[in-house]
Amino acid sequence: MRRTVIAGNWKMYKDVLESTQLVEDIRKQESSIPSNVTAIVCPPFTSLAILGNMLKGSTIKLGAQNMSEHDEGAYTGEVSWKMLKSANTEYVILGHSERRQYFKETNELINLKVKKALDNGLKPIVCVGERLNEREQGITDPIVKTQVKGVLAGLKSQDIERTIIAYEPVWAIGTGKTATPQQAQDVHKMIRKLVAQLYDWSVADRLVIQYGGSVKPENARELLSQPDIDGALVGGASLKADGFLQVIHAGKN
Ligand code: 13P
Repeated sequence: MRRTVIAGNWKMYKDVLESTQLVEDIRKQESSIPSNVTAIVCPPFTSLAILGNMLKGSTIKLGAQNMSEHDEGAYTGEVSWKMLKSANTEYVILGHSERRQYFKETNELINLKVKKALDNGLKPIVCVGERLNEREQGITDPIVKTQVKGVLAGLKSQDIERTIIAYEPVWAIGTGKTATPQQAQDVHKMIRKLVAQLYDWSVADRLVIQYGGSVKPENARELLSQPDIDGALVGGASLKADGFLQVIHAGKN
């Protein structure tokens, strides 16, 4: 039985004080988090260290939103795996569509970052998803397949076991337009089958595939009840404790 993994991607919201307040509010209800659910918060870099301290001994995990493909060096503005780990970060979102779109990240670069994260004990949450015009042209499956193959290239079975894939259709992010549970399920099933072809079914069956794109308390339960949807990567609705906790509760078995 796969765990349900609900991650809050705070994007470029919440300064240090706001971050600590949000985590304090979530922690007030920490004991209500269902035992089958892993909850992760992914704040901006500036809040990682302080939240890493606050979350020591907590069941709530910490994730970053990006990471350099390099170990260290003269890379102004970049943050390394070692820096993330020193802040008690366990997960890292890689290849988010906003990084692909605004920062020109390619499957090749994302693949380097995924490998760097895995080689150094961080668990990547790797994002894939088609744009609106691609869905309209009926090429969702080949687009997503190319992304999945590209970002996972060269990984071994044991790497996949520590990797989460997040399917986030770009047209559903921050737009209020959610993929229907069936649309999302179809793509998740296709991704799992592809991973079974690339590795084997035992690896594919254990892979956690999250859905992201306008997930909110009102639609979370139906999405999460689909057989191949194992969690959610939540943007806007994760910025308030109540909304995030409601999505977490929707993941109860
Ligand atoms: P929204 O939930 O705000 O649509 O954002 C989704 C997302 O991009 C999570 O990574």
